[in-house]
Amino acid sequence: MNAVTELQTRALEQVAAADDLQQLDELRVRYLGKKGEVTAQLKSLGSMDPEQRKSYGQQVNAVRDALNQAINQRRKALEAAALEQKLLSERVDVTLPGRGEHRGGLHPVTMAMERAVGIFTRLGFEVATGPEVEDDHYNFESLNFPPHHPARAMHDTFYFGDGRLLRTHTSPVQIRVMEKSDPPYRIIAPGKVFRSDSDQTHTPMFHQVEGLLVGRNVSMADLKGVLHTFVNAFFERSLEVRFRPSYFPFTEPSAEVDIGWEKGDGSEPGWLEILGCGMVHPNVLHACGVDPEEFTGYAFGMGVERLAMLRYGVTDLRQFFENDLEFLRQFH
Ligand code: PHE
Repeated sequence: MNAVTELQTRALEQVAAADDLQQLDELRVRYLGKKGEVTAQLKSLGSMDPEQRKSYGQQVNAVRDALNQAINQRRKALEAAALEQKLLSERVDVTLPGRGEHRGGLHPVTMAMERAVGIFTRLGFEVATGPEVEDDHYNFESLNFPPHHPARAMHDTFYFGDGRLLRTHTSPVQIRVMEKSDPPYRIIAPGKVFRSDSDQTHTPMFHQVEGLLVGRNVSMADLKGVLHTFVNAFFERSLEVRFRPSYFPFTEPSAEVDIGWEKGDGSEPGWLEILGCGMVHPNVLHACGVDPEEFTGYAFGMGVERLAMLRYGVTDLRQFFENDLEFLRQFH
């Protein structure tokens, strides 16, 4: 009898003192498990005489029930405490003021480039790209720049010294497109170009959007129509456009395009150059395996920074590259 009472007291004390669920389960196994102490007592009943078995049996059953109940209660208490702890540690004070989110925005040059590409895309041009690291073949030779031609010198090329160079214009993309497939072509090629040149109006890296259209019976009139449409759409107004004779080795005839631009200060509108263009030179078509007797085409190339400066009223090119947030946030 005393042993059973002692067992109950000891077990209940330990259950009450268990301070985590694992410890509690170990106690359950120790007392009530298959080889547990209380279970052992119950097993021993079989070898007792009936009289003794009855009262001892009742006593041990009572211990088992009391212990079961205590363990369940303790488990509930521990689980509740654990939940409480979790809720406390995960609490969010929804009344705290917000930290404030800074939203990024597109760079004005990116905006201008996407705007130009969008307009030409709607006119049916497809976007083409080429590498920024080119070689003499793509940047000059197949664009009809003979070796030692003075036009090469005007490009202030960055050379790597192993035949490779940083492309000085997006015109090599014309060659890559024509080499790869058969005419007709109608592509627009936006991208970075590089020239060893740095002053108020030049940065060593800038952006161009190149255009190329080759097909049957393509004329300079088509070129003028497309560029005038583009200029009006880009600046969202009806602008005057002027074609000025010029020279590029890869186009013949060649022209530079000016737009009539009002400074907005009451002064007379002046002419501003915005791009170079021309009819694709037969030598260029020929170098790409396109028959100049059958196909003609036009090409143009424009400086994106120049377009962005005009559209957004930026007066110093270098502001685009200084990463001054005060400046950049104006365009969000
Ligand atoms: N690639 C020329 C330049 O960078 C621009 C151009 C492109 C001119 C296409 C004619 C035709 O100056």
